[in-house]
Amino acid sequence: MKGLILAAGRGTRLRPLTHTRPKPAIRVAGRPIIHYAVENLLEAGVREIGVVVSPETERDLKVALEGYPVRYVLQEEPQGLAHAVDVARDFLGESPFVLYLGDNLFQKGIRRFLEAFKPGVSAVIALVRVEDPRQFGVAVLEGNRVVRLLEKPKDPPSDLAVAGVYVFSPEVLEVVRGLKPSARGEYEITDAIQGLIDRGKTVVGVEVEGWWKDTGRHQDLLDANRLLLEELTPKVEGDVVESQLTGRVVVEKGAKVVRSTVIGPAHIGAGAVVEEAFVGPFTSVGPRARVVRSEVEYSLLEEEAVVEEVRLRLQECILGVRAEVKSRDGLPRAHRLILGDLSQVELA
Ligand code: G1P
Repeated sequence: MKGLILAAGRGTRLRPLTHTRPKPAIRVAGRPIIHYAVENLLEAGVREIGVVVSPETERDLKVALEGYPVRYVLQEEPQGLAHAVDVARDFLGESPFVLYLGDNLFQKGIRRFLEAFKPGVSAVIALVRVEDPRQFGVAVLEGNRVVRLLEKPKDPPSDLAVAGVYVFSPEVLEVVRGLKPSARGEYEITDAIQGLIDRGKTVVGVEVEGWWKDTGRHQDLLDANRLLLEELTPKVEGDVVESQLTGRVVVEKGAKVVRSTVIGPAHIGAGAVVEEAFVGPFTSVGPRARVVRSEVEYSLLEEEAVVEEVRLRLQECILGVRAEVKSRDGLPRAHRLILGDLSQVELA
């Protein structure tokens, strides 16, 4: 069994964060999203892992995955998930494989999908009941067999959304070869699976256990961060001076928490500084980030982000790499903002 993680997407719905870094390289609860995919594959016994990258995402993902035993496959053009499988043909060979969307998170890992991949089964897909399935692939089941699959239907025939993990026999490569682009101009994995069904093959649907998160939009990142922090094992390896840590808190090596209050679950990354500050629940402070004389809660601060002297508590904020929020004294009492394309600021 091989693993193929897709990480070539442009992540347009997560701009401006994804202008400068690919979605799977964004850190939640202290680790790049793609780490959780690799860990889940390894935990399920998948040892040969390929990561599909694009010319834009390649560099950042190689940095994010340093030290992991993975191989890279280059997808020159973003032409859809089935196209990504097609370009990975040589890597996949004749082996069955797990296809894992690099921006998806599964609380309980992926073992149950592999277990359902029995002899005679051509594909296993992961399913989740959701209120509004229109933004996902949607499946129709008979028993546990998938009889129909639609990509982002306007009028969903069921509430079963397709989550981003699939197990395939190599037969799917045949179907992928014959696909035509969809209305949005992409080669859809959903169409490939429907192709298997049309050929009379057995496609099995397995419901996801625990939570599942597709980190498509900003709120999903905050949610994912919260859900992952809930499972944090407390650990203090950095310096904590005259401070109070309450609940599940991780302070990584080289981090400093000085005259501050941290209420968990919270993650303070390596080399970060929290000084005379309040860090509230569900907050991740990235490596070498700084929170000084400020209050932050339910927020995600990336590497080297800075929050300094901000009197109003920051809540539900996402600060990208080296983003800064500071307040200044003196006149004029005005907001001074330098915002890149598609930035979002809400002033209270
Ligand atoms: C893709 C799939 C869709 C699936 C979703 C899960 O959509 O095409 O079927 O439900 O991932 O994350 P995308 O997020 O690429 O638009």
